[in-house]
Amino acid sequence: MGLQTIQLKDGSLIPKGGVGTWEMGEMEDEKDLEVESIYKSIELGIRLLDTAEMYGEGGAEKVVGKAINKAISNGIVKREDLYIVSKVYPFNAGKRNIFRSCENSLKRLGVDYLDLYLLHWRGSIPLRETVYCMEKLVKEKKIKRWGVSNFDVEDMEELLSIPNGENCVVNQVLYHIASREADTELVKFGIPLMAYSPLARAGTIVRDRSIFKNELILELAEKYNCTIYQIMLAFVHSQPNYITIPKSTQIKHLCDNYDVLSDKIKLSEEDVQRLDNEFPAPTIRRPINMI
Ligand SMILES: NC(=O)c1ccc[n+]([C@@H]2O[C@H](COP(=O)([O-])OP(=O)(O)OC[C@H]3O[C@@H](n4cnc5c(N)ncnc54)[C@H](OP(=O)(O)O)[C@@H]3O)[C@@H](O)[C@H]2O)c1
Repeated sequence: MGLQTIQLKDGSLIPKGGVGTWEMGEMEDEKDLEVESIYKSIELGIRLLDTAEMYGEGGAEKVVGKAINKAISNGIVKREDLYIVSKVYPFNAGKRNIFRSCENSLKRLGVDYLDLYLLHWRGSIPLRETVYCMEKLVKEKKIKRWGVSNFDVEDMEELLSIPNGENCVVNQVLYHIASREADTELVKFGIPLMAYSPLARAGTIVRDRSIFKNELILELAEKYNCTIYQIMLAFVHSQPNYITIPKSTQIKHLCDNYDVLSDKIKLSEEDVQRLDNEFPAPTIRRPINMI
């Protein structure tokens, strides 16, 4: 559908933009709206859907499942057009639970494979065991490929030192214009990063709220005739090694985000550079942020 893609290590392509689903599937009276928002995203042209067994304790996966089912039934997409990402809780990411966890995610989503399965964050189960299980899931065709999330430099180094650790295709980390820790070192691993909270959760997780009064952002919002959130998202989207997954349940916001992810609103190289200068990545490495 014309959305940019990034090539992963295994040669496959992943859409550069998608949607998130955190906090979906939690409230009974909001589920219909949430299903509609995912359906609308697919209708707009979004193919990558990011979810997790954690979100709404499976509720978000059910929401995604309903939206997918509707989109497939209505002939908008086929399963193979979609790129479904889910995540396993760290405490389930070992031989004892991961196979059941994955099966339950598949059931809730109503699909027979995931395009990408991520370890949500590091827990106490040895990485070697998680990698072994991920590889087994690939062999069993339950997942196409696997990755990690919230992994900082030391975690990546350890991962890459264990058997098959190099098969990790993505690291999903917090990244937005005012939190660019991943740019300092993590990006150098050459494993694409999936930027979560690219809108800084509508600004709720930025300590310095002056970003919303920043003259450059306001100037660019006027220049591109868009919102400041679109400028924030467009900056993340302009970064070559990043995939991003903004979340919204409002049609207006979904359309705004889609305009950025589909490059209808695209920052010039010069404007990306100006934003880069205004919101630089740390020169000395700082730990990645996590929420
Ligand atoms: N791996 C991890 O540990 C991890 C952690 C956090 C998130 N994630 C994933 O990343 C996804 C995205 O991150 P996120 O949900 O934390 O935050 P986000 O995408 O940065 O922001 C979501 C918030 O921004 C609002 N919003 C969305 N588009 C907007 C727009 N164009 N203009 C104004 N407001 C807008 C949404 O409200 P409305 O719904 O009202 O539009 C919502 O409150 C998650 O949903 C999840 O899938 C992963």
